[in-house]
Amino acid sequence: MSDAATTNIERVVVIGAGAMGTGIAQVFAAAGKRVTLVDVRPEGLEAAIASLSSVLSRQVTKGKMTAESVEALLGRITTSTDLSEAANSADFAIEAVFERLDIKLDLIAQLDRALSVEAIIASNTSSLSITRLAAASTNPERVIGMHFFNPAPLMPLVEVVRGLQTSDRTAEVVTALAKAIGKTPIPVNDAPGFAGNRILLPMINEAIFALSEGVADRNAIDQVMKLGMGHPMGPLQLADLIGLDVCLDILEVLHRDFGDDRYRPAPLLRQMVSAGWLGKKRGRGFYHYDAGDLPVE
Ligand SMILES: NC(=O)c1ccc[n+]([C@@H]2O[C@H](COP(=O)([O-])OP(=O)(O)OC[C@H]3O[C@@H](n4cnc5c(N)ncnc54)[C@H](O)[C@@H]3O)[C@@H](O)[C@H]2O)c1
Repeated sequence: MSDAATTNIERVVVIGAGAMGTGIAQVFAAAGKRVTLVDVRPEGLEAAIASLSSVLSRQVTKGKMTAESVEALLGRITTSTDLSEAANSADFAIEAVFERLDIKLDLIAQLDRALSVEAIIASNTSSLSITRLAAASTNPERVIGMHFFNPAPLMPLVEVVRGLQTSDRTAEVVTALAKAIGKTPIPVNDAPGFAGNRILLPMINEAIFALSEGVADRNAIDQVMKLGMGHPMGPLQLADLIGLDVCLDILEVLHRDFGDDRYRPAPLLRQMVSAGWLGKKRGRGFYHYDAGDLPVE
C-alpha cells in the first residue's frame, strides 16, 4: 500500500498522557499531524506539556531544532479531559492508558461510540490480547496493536499486532502510518507480550531475582549486561525507565496467559511496586533520579 493510505489521517487522538502517550503525541505532531492528548487527570496533561516543552527546548539548545519548529510542533498538540469531544473529529485513535484489561476494554467501547466509523483504533498495549481488546468494539476489524517502545520519539521500532478480527485495510494503513511518522513497523502475531516484551521481560525479571538472591549488586548486574552483552542500558536501569508497575503488569499477563511459572514476577518487584518505588517517573526505583534522565545514585 502506498503512503496515500495515510493521507486521510490528519487528526490523531492519543489517550493517556503518561510516559508513552506524551512521547507518541510528540512523534505524531513532529510528523505534522494534529494531535489531541487526552487524560482523565488534568494535572497529568499539564505535566505532559511541561515535560514536552522542556525536552524540546533542550533540542533547541543542542541545535537540533529551531525555536520556530518547536513552537509549531507544540502548536499542533492540544489537550482535553473530554474523550468524546476529542474523538469526535479524529481519523485515528491510539490508547496508552494503564496496562489493565478492564480499563482498556471500557476505553475502546467509549472510542467505538465517539469516533467516526472509518477511524482506526490502535492500542499501545505491551502485552494484552489485541483480539480481546477488539471484541470491545462493534467494528473489531478497525482495532489493531501499534506498540511503540520507550522513549517513543527515539526508538525506531513499532510492533504492528493484528488481532484475529483486524482487517487487511487496518493493518495496511497502520503499517503505512508508522512509516510516515518515521518508524519501522514490524508485524508480529497476537500472543502475550508479542515478540519484544516476551523476550525482554523475562530477562528483566531474572535480573531482579539475581539481585534479590545476592548473585551480584545492582551496578554489577547492569554492568555485566552492558559490557558483556553490548546492551546500551542494564536490565535494572531499563526496568526503572519502563516503570516497575508496567513491568509487573506485563509479567502478570505473561504468567496468567501462558499459565507457566517461568514468568512469575520476582517478589522483590512486587515489593517495590507496593512501596511506590516505580522507577524514574517517581524518582526512585532500583536507582534514584532527580529531574534528569540518568540515575543520580
Ligand atoms: N512504559 C513503557 O516503557 C511502555 C512501553 C511500551 C508500551 N507501554 C504501554 O503503554 C501504556 C501506558 O504506559 P505508560 O508507561 O505511559 O503509563 P503511565 O502510567 O505513565 O501513564 C498512563 C496514563 O493513562 C492515564 N489514564 C488511565 N486511565 C485512563 C482513562 N480511562 N482515560 C484517559 N487516561 C487514562 C493516567 O492518568 C496516566 O496519565 C500501557 O499499556 C503500557 O503497557 C509502556
